[in-house]
Amino acid sequence: MAAIVALMFALLMLTFSFPVNSLSLNYYDQTCPKAESAVTNAVKKAMMNDKTVPAALLRMHFHDCFIRGCDGSVLLKSVGNNTAEKDGPPNISLHAFYVIDNAKKAVEALCPGVVSCADILALAARDAVALSGGPNWSVPKGRKDGRISKASDTRQLPAPTFNISQLQQSFSQRGLSMEDLVALSGGHTLGFSHCSSFQNRIHNFNATLDIDPTMHPSFAASLRSVCPAHNKVKNAGATLDSSSTTFDNTYYKLLLQGKSIFSSDQALLTTPKTKRLVSSFGNSQKEFEKAFVKSMIKMSSITGGQEVRLDCKVVR
Ligand code: HEM
Ligand SMILES: *[C@@H]1O[C@H](CO)[C@@H](O)[C@H](O)[C@H]1NC(C)=O
Ligand SMILES: *[C@@H]1O[C@H](CO)[C@@H](O)[C@H](O)[C@H]1NC(C)=O
Ligand SMILES: *[C@@H]1O[C@H](CO)[C@@H](O)[C@H](O)[C@H]1NC(C)=O
Ligand SMILES: *[C@@H]1O[C@H](CO)[C@@H](O)[C@H](O)[C@H]1NC(C)=O
Ligand SMILES: *[C@@H]1O[C@H](CO)[C@@H](O)[C@H](O)[C@H]1NC(C)=O
Repeated sequence: MAAIVALMFALLMLTFSFPVNSLSLNYYDQTCPKAESAVTNAVKKAMMNDKTVPAALLRMHFHDCFIRGCDGSVLLKSVGNNTAEKDGPPNISLHAFYVIDNAKKAVEALCPGVVSCADILALAARDAVALSGGPNWSVPKGRKDGRISKASDTRQLPAPTFNISQLQQSFSQRGLSMEDLVALSGGHTLGFSHCSSFQNRIHNFNATLDIDPTMHPSFAASLRSVCPAHNKVKNAGATLDSSSTTFDNTYYKLLLQGKSIFSSDQALLTTPKTKRLVSSFGNSQKEFEKAFVKSMIKMSSITGGQEVRLDCKVVR
């Protein structure tokens, strides 16, 4: 009994000794009820001119959350001698930052200084999925923006060459499970990759093989034709699945056929548990959507910041 009381007391102290940045669904109901629709409109408008916007926003949110929590640090630009995350090495293909700036401007016009850039990015990523044919869901809000963004932090992002144990470690360090890993990798139903991110699988795979033997041979051949060994074409690459502007479960179907782009995708087939999840999501769009929404809410609830920035690009 005494032990239980002591434990409860310890838990209570833990709860109050850290500044918990708790999120809620109705966070802006009183202070900025129109914020969400303003963000949706900004994303819609950008998509009309550029079909690559949804993929960019989803990946941007993922990078934001994996570095210092979802605190808008990915949005900051380099200043003086500080090189920001967005200018760090694996930034390749991060783009469409202007969509967040436009959304922020619209939201600031409605309710100045109230809605964080981190929340705007989380909402924009959700709308990007919903507007691409995926599920819509309610996003818990109340994230705060951080003041630090360092290019060197991008080394903490998982690499496309990671195997399953490296992926597991990267996700579990952020409180995310193997199920979250498989569900969130489904984000690769949208978007594009440059050759450099998958060249390990199609040239000099290892000392004896040129091509990753787990890759479907004709798929490997098609990737090699757009990405030759000494590729000189600047933006050459491949879409992450065959319906890269539609949010669906095609990614998992192709993965099961050896037609995924990254080693980190293929790695999901290397443990029985993750392979079972891949099959289940490949068989059922509903199962995938349910798991994706649950895991997105989990990933986007990793908080980190402390203020509301007025300009998403600069700290004052
Ligand atoms: C599991 C670990 C992950 C790895 C190793 C990984 C790696 C990558 C790489 C290397 C690219 C292509 C970069 C390029 O060459 O242009 C990419 C693109 C992308 N990733 Fe991931 N990713 C991971 C997880 C995620 C998650 C969790 C999401 C979101 C839920 C996500 C969403 C995307 C999207 C949408 C793109 C396409 C971006 C665009 O077309 O602009 N990825 N990822
Ligand atoms: C970077 O600049 C700040 C002031 O702008 C200065 O305090 C700091 O020492 C500089 N750091 C390096 C590594 O040069
Ligand atoms: C990505 O980082 C490189 C430096 O590693 C930088 O030169 C480039 O401008 C960055 N690209 C974007 C889109 O921020
Ligand atoms: C998704 O639902 C929210 C309400 O929860 C709404 O504000 C938002 O506009 C919806 N997004 C899309 C793209 O329909
Ligand atoms: C994954 O890669 C790491 C680092 O190269 C290695 O130590 C580990 O044994 C690998 N794990 C698997 C399951 O291949
Ligand atoms: C190359 O990869 C194949 C397939 O994974 C493996 O069987 C072979 O032993 C590897 N060769 C070397 C030299 O590592």
